[in-house]
Amino acid sequence: MSAQTEITKRKTVRDIANGKGKAPVVCLTAYTAPMARLLDPHADVLLVGDSLGMVVHGLSSTVGVTLEMMILHGRAVMRGSNQALVVVDLPFGSYEESHEVAWRSASRVMMETGCQAVKVESGEGIADTIAFLVDRGIPVMGHVGLRPQAMNVDGGFRAKGRTKAERDRVLREALAADRAGAFAIVVEGVAEDIAAEVSSLVRAPTIGIGASAKCDGQILVTDDMLGMFPWTPKFVRRYADLGNIIDQAAAHYAQDVRERTFPAEAETYVLKRAP
Ligand code: KIV
Repeated sequence: MSAQTEITKRKTVRDIANGKGKAPVVCLTAYTAPMARLLDPHADVLLVGDSLGMVVHGLSSTVGVTLEMMILHGRAVMRGSNQALVVVDLPFGSYEESHEVAWRSASRVMMETGCQAVKVESGEGIADTIAFLVDRGIPVMGHVGLRPQAMNVDGGFRAKGRTKAERDRVLREALAADRAGAFAIVVEGVAEDIAAEVSSLVRAPTIGIGASAKCDGQILVTDDMLGMFPWTPKFVRRYADLGNIIDQAAAHYAQDVRERTFPAEAETYVLKRAP
């Protein structure tokens, strides 16, 4: 069945948007079909985040991620899931130039992956684009606070809200995305009081990452919470230590191969000879 003809029982953007004030929204990133299959029963939203550039492709930021990469991984996550709402990030350079460019990128992502929504990092200047897309049938998730695609302007990945100007800006960005019709808004890298203010002011549910418990839902980069990297940011809770488990398994395998104890008889085909 093609991406466009999937008959779906997935959660919808309405389910997420109408959930504000009810149960917290559970979101995780997913980039591959097998991981999507494992996460799908537990998550309301699977985000195919452009963090895949760093997590899967070894880039130093998300700036080098292309639309083709997002579409490839978006299709894989759609194949591996069947109940969560799947949102795909629009990567840097694919939506900022004009409404028309954003429309072409977002409609490609929707049509070629079958996902139900896109996410944009929404500085104030992007609010119009959100309204343009929503008006034409593309649900949009906003993303305010620390915006990884703006890391070259910010001089790195820095939490937001140290100054009043920065704090006001996060509030303005969130309100602009909300008014433009975003069905949910990721709030990244802000202190608890800012998260609380944003969450109380906007109609859309806020999804926090490094933004305290004062959000309407939470998202983590799955590989972070599974302990796939030696370093874990302060806001991440490690729910597993897969990095060490994989290291030990690979070391054990290497030893068995070198000692010729793998494969053993039980792992070897014994085929009847054809006459
Ligand atoms: O790209 C991503 O994974 C994200 C989340 C961290 C929210 O945008």
